[in-house]
Amino acid sequence: MALFSRVALPGDVPALVALEHQCFSSDRLSSRSFHWMIGRAHGQLLVAEQDGQLLGYALVLFRRRSRLARLYSIAVADHARGLGLGKQLLSHVEACGVTHGCAHLRLEVRTDNPGALALYERNGYRRFAVVNDYYADHTSALRLEKTLVRPPA
Ligand SMILES: CC(C)(COP(=O)(O)OP(=O)(O)OC[C@H]1O[C@@H](n2cnc3c(N)ncnc32)[C@H](O)[C@@H]1OP(=O)(O)O)[C@@H](O)C(=O)NCCC(=O)NCCS
Repeated sequence: MALFSRVALPGDVPALVALEHQCFSSDRLSSRSFHWMIGRAHGQLLVAEQDGQLLGYALVLFRRRSRLARLYSIAVADHARGLGLGKQLLSHVEACGVTHGCAHLRLEVRTDNPGALALYERNGYRRFAVVNDYYADHTSALRLEKTLVRPPA
């Protein structure tokens, strides 16, 4: 699928909130959080769209004086799944991490989310920890990490 991806703008927030409700049943980002992520966070909120319709997003956070980036969230609309958008968003996030001088990208995923886990593991992420009772509904998280490779000059 031809994907147009760009940095999110405040005008995307209503569509992002709608997507969040479609994709997650708990631990959702609120409208306020999205605005903060767009305007204030030390990170990058990327959106994927087609014909002006927002189909997905990925949010990566950075920490000052750290080479670790964190994929905070990623989501693709129901009707656009399985077409490679998640993979493309992930690769944009990784490129963004490299641009910010990061050597590793880490993330958490619910133990009951095999689809997301497959996306990450097929793209080179390795499990390194389990955190019990991580989510609001007490589900555990797997922690995954990928070493980001700087493209040859
Ligand atoms: C996880 C999610 C972002 C994947 O997006 P997507 O656009 O459907 O993923 P892609 O089409 O790029 O798939 C990439 C790979 O992931 C794997 N994958 C993705 N969804 C899968 C599923 N439901 N079951 C099994 N494998 C899956 C596939 O193996 C695929 O690799 P392949 O094309 O080489 O076979 C999407 O399902 C989603 O938004 N889910 C709800 C929100 C969520 O769970 N976010 C993750 C929070 S940690």
